[in-house]
Amino acid sequence: MIPPKPPARPDKVSLWRYLKLFRQDLLSAQPARLYRAWMAEFRTPFFRSYLVNQPDLVDTVLKGRPDDFPKSNRISEGLRPLLGNSVFLTNGETWKRQRRIIDPAFEGGRLRDTFPAMWAASEAAVNRLAAQAGQETEIEEITSHAAADVIFRTLFSIPIEHEVAAQVFTRFRAYQRAQPLLNLAAFVPVPRWVPRFHSRQTRRNAAVIRGLIRQLTDTRMEEIRAGTAPDDLATKIMTTTDPQTGDRFDTSEMVDQVAIFFLAGHETSASALAWTLYLMALYPEWQEKLAEEARALDSPPDFSVMSKLRLSRDVFREALRLYPPVPMMVRETTCPEHFRDRDVPKGAQIVLSPWHLHRHERLWERPDDFDPGRWHTENGKICQRNAYMPFSAGPRVCTGAGFAMVEGPLILSMLLRRFRFERIAGRDPVPVAHLTVRAADGIWLRVLER
Ligand code: HEM
Repeated sequence: MIPPKPPARPDKVSLWRYLKLFRQDLLSAQPARLYRAWMAEFRTPFFRSYLVNQPDLVDTVLKGRPDDFPKSNRISEGLRPLLGNSVFLTNGETWKRQRRIIDPAFEGGRLRDTFPAMWAASEAAVNRLAAQAGQETEIEEITSHAAADVIFRTLFSIPIEHEVAAQVFTRFRAYQRAQPLLNLAAFVPVPRWVPRFHSRQTRRNAAVIRGLIRQLTDTRMEEIRAGTAPDDLATKIMTTTDPQTGDRFDTSEMVDQVAIFFLAGHETSASALAWTLYLMALYPEWQEKLAEEARALDSPPDFSVMSKLRLSRDVFREALRLYPPVPMMVRETTCPEHFRDRDVPKGAQIVLSPWHLHRHERLWERPDDFDPGRWHTENGKICQRNAYMPFSAGPRVCTGAGFAMVEGPLILSMLLRRFRFERIAGRDPVPVAHLTVRAADGIWLRVLER
C-alpha cells in the first residue's frame, strides 16, 4: 500500500472549475502531469504563473540569483495583519538585516543549548498523551500542542500551560480558521489594484495575538535591562546587534519576529510529526525499529543522544518528502527571464513546489512509496541534493531547519518509546493544503501504551 496521495484533476478544466477546485484544496486542483513536468504555465486573465520543477532552474531562483526573485506580495496578504514586517514577508535590505540578527540564534551551538527545553517539551507531550492511551485520538491536535510547547519553551522559557502562551495558541487557531490557504492568493486571478479586505474577525484575532506577544517581549526587555533574563532564543535575538549597522530589533519589530517564529515553527513541525506518526501506524515494522532505537533515550538527556536516533531521522526526512508541510512557495520575477523554451515576463509568479518535486517521477525511484532506506541509496543521495527542499534552499532557507531536524526526531522517538500507534480502518487521512499540508478530517490513530 502506498501512503495517501490526493487525486489529481483532469488535464484540462475551465478556469471557473479550476478556481472551484482550488478553493477546496491546492493539491487536488493540480493535474497529474505536474509530477512529470519540468515546467508548466498557468494563464489567468490578469497574470501568469509558472511552476518550475527542474532542479537547475529551482537553483537559479533560490540560490543563483535570489535577489532577482523576491517573495511575491500576493501570498503575504493573508498573513500581514498577524505578521507585520516579519522576516517571512520582507524582501531586499530589510530582510537581509533581519536575517543578520536572527540567524546567530539558530546556529549549531545554540541548538545544543535549546536541547533541554526540547526534551522537557517532549516529556510533557508524552505525559499529556498518556491520559488518552487506549483511545482513538486526533493526532494533529497532539502534535500542535507539543510543537507550540517547544516554541514557547525555547523562545521564552515558558511552557504552553503559561497563561499568555496558552492564549496565543488558542487565538492562533481561530485566526487560522478565518484566514486559511496561504497560497490561494498567489494563483487567484485578482489584479493587483484590487484592495484586499481582511474580515473583522481576522483583524481582531491578529490584534489580540500581537497584544499577547507584546506582553511577553515587553517583560523580556525589562528583564534584559535588569540583567535577570533567561538565556533563551528571545534574549539572544533581542540582544544581538546587526554587525553592519549596530542596530537591534526594537520591541515592535521583535513582536513581528516572534509571531513568525510561533507560526512557522509550530504549524510546520506539527504537520510533519502528525504525518510521521500516521506513517508509523501504516508501516508497523518501521514503528518497531524506531521504538527499539528510542531505548537510547533511557540514559539522562543529553544532546549527544541525537546521533543515536538515525532511523528516526531517516523516517522523519522521508515523511517531510511525502508530506512537505510547506507544499509550495511563490516568488516573483523582477526582469524578463528565459526558462527552458519559454519567455517569462517581468512580474510573473514563479511557483516552486516541494510537493511535486519530492514526488517527481523522472527523478525519484518509486516516488510515492514510503522508504526511509532510500536516503542510503545512490538515487536517494542524488535526489536529496537536487530534488528535496522541505525547508526551501539558498539564503532564504528556513531559519529553523536545524532546529526542526532535532525537534522532530526527538519527539517522535520519545512518543514511540512509550506508545504504539495503530491505524483505524476506514479513517485514513487525505492530505489537503491549508496553511500547511494537513489531513482533511484530521489524523486519527489508536494510541496504546507499550
Ligand atoms: C518541519 C518543520 C519546518 C518546515 C518544513 C519549515 C519549512 C519552511 C520553508 C519551506 C520556508 C520557506 C518559505 C518560503 O520561502 O516561502 C520556511 C521559512 C521560515 N521558517 Fe521554517 N520550517 C519548519 C520549522 C521552522 C521552525 C521550527 C522555525 C523557527 C523556530 C522556522 C522559522 C522559519 C522562518 C523565520 C522562516 C522565514 C525565513 C525567511 O524568509 O528568510 N521554521 N520554513
